[in-house]
This record gives sequence, C-alpha cells and structure tokens, in this order.
Amino acid sequence: MTDRYAVIGNPIEHSKSPMIHQAFAEQTGETLSYGRLLGHLDDFEADVRRFFAGGGQGLNVTVPFKERAWALADERTPRAESAGAVNTLIRLADGRLRGDNTDGAGLVRDLTVNHGYLLSGCRVLLLGAGGASKGVVRPLLECGPEQLVIANRTAAKARQLATALQSLGPVQGCGLDELEGGEYDLIINGTAAGLQGAVPPIPDNILTPGGWIYDMLYANEPTAFVRWGKAHRAGKALDGLGMLVEQAAESFFLWRGVRPDTGPVMAQLRA
Ligand code: ATR
Repeated sequence: MTDRYAVIGNPIEHSKSPMIHQAFAEQTGETLSYGRLLGHLDDFEADVRRFFAGGGQGLNVTVPFKERAWALADERTPRAESAGAVNTLIRLADGRLRGDNTDGAGLVRDLTVNHGYLLSGCRVLLLGAGGASKGVVRPLLECGPEQLVIANRTAAKARQLATALQSLGPVQGCGLDELEGGEYDLIINGTAAGLQGAVPPIPDNILTPGGWIYDMLYANEPTAFVRWGKAHRAGKALDGLGMLVEQAAESFFLWRGVRPDTGPVMAQLRA
C-alpha cells in the first residue's frame, strides 16, 4: 500500500503543503500520497486517530490545531516542547505518535543555507510572542546569536517566553514600546500585524546599516514588513516563502529520511 501523509487544519483548502510534498516526492522518487484533511474544531483528536488507524504514516498540522497536536502526541522532541506546538506528527513503529516542530528549523535553514546568513554573533530582534515566535526561539538560540531580544505588544508574554528559554542562550523579553534604535543586525517579524497590512510599531533607526529583515509571513506580493525593510534600506528583506518550503522539507526528511532540493519548489511557488 502507498504510504499516506496529509496536512490537517481548518480551513485547509488553500494549503500549499500538498503541492510542495508532491513535488518533493516526485523529485526524490519516493512513492507516497499527500492529501488535505479538514479537521473538525470539536473533534480534531478523533480525526487524527482515524487517519493513523487507517494506515496513515504522518501528518502536518496547521492553524488552529498545533497546540492540540502538541497535547495529543505520545512523545515530543525538545524543539516541539519549547515551541508548545507540533506541526509534524510521525507514526512510530509501535504505533505511538511523535510530535515535532519544524518551523524554526525551516526559518534557520532558509536564512543560513539558502541565503548564507551567519547568525552566530548577531544581534537578533524577534517581534511577537505568539505561536509563530514560540516556534523559532530555540532553533535561533542554537545558532549562537550574541543576543536575542523578543519584543511584543504585550510585554509580559515576551518576558515569559524569554524566561522559559534563558538556559539555552542570551535571550531577553520586552515590550515593543521599550525598544530603542540602532542595535539589530536582523529583525524577524512573527507578529500577526501583517495580516492587516500593518507593521508592528518599532523605531525607524532600529536596524543596523545593511542589516536584514525577515517576515515569517508570506504573500503573493511583498508583505508590509518586507516593504518596511526595503524603505529602511535593509541589506536583504525576505518573506516567509523560504521558511514555508524548508519546514516542509524538514518534515519530509523526518518521515522519509531523504532531504529534498527546495530550490525548484520555491521557484515554482514564486511563479
Ligand atoms: P500566531 O500563532 O500567528 O503567532 P497569536 O498567538 O495570536 O498568533 O500571536 C499573534 C502575535 O502578533 C502576538 O505577539 C500579538 O501581540 P500580543 O501578544 O500583544 O497580542 C502580535 N500582534 C498582533 N497584531 C499586532 C499589531 N497590530 N501590532 C503588533 N503586534 C501584533
């Protein structure tokens, strides 16, 4: 029987994961199917159990179920543990489910492998302390930045997130309104402000000259934060397309043990 995979979310019809994973499978010669699963808001857990009982091998989990997938997993990787969220479920040989989170690895791979950015020794500012930001703090700290500051509209959430992970590296939390200018080599936007076409309120001179910005959001046209980066003369202003494809590649690798070439898939999505 063909190995079955899927992405589960609600809504799910616009997910690009099936296209991405089918392209990976074709490219690597892996025989598998990858579909879309509409999760029920009141019974997500039963949907997952049914998928695996029916022979499914792995699931990607997306909005709004990542925290529920974390709770449902029988065991979790350290990066999923720190994220408090699971985007990849892997069926183990004994039928138990391992929960992992590949979002942060996807961001780090896009920055370092695809764009050649050296995170070690950098001063990094992460905007937001919600689900998107939580998923990336541990992998970012593992790259050895000089400093990671998490700034959020609600300062207490940023402080809490930083405190929980401070054993992993130099991380601090603060309010957006506490930020002063001219300090950061890389600014990553993990807030939901871009969904309304807005940019979180930050000082104009917060990016060091030639510093980079990265928006975890991805859209067909430049996002509000990418436009902010260009207007503030960022050395590079990247959106989240690369992260989207790289987190998928990391899931594919966990399931199949093969690392796909992400470049052609990114080109296909941009087109
Ligand atoms: P997600 O899972 O997408 O991260 P979330 O958990 O609701 O969604 O988190 C959204 C993040 O965007 C939060 O950090 C939120 O700030 P608060 O914690 O203060 O709510 C931030 N956010 C949303 N809209 C924003 C805006 N207009 N300006 C700045 N930050 C914003």
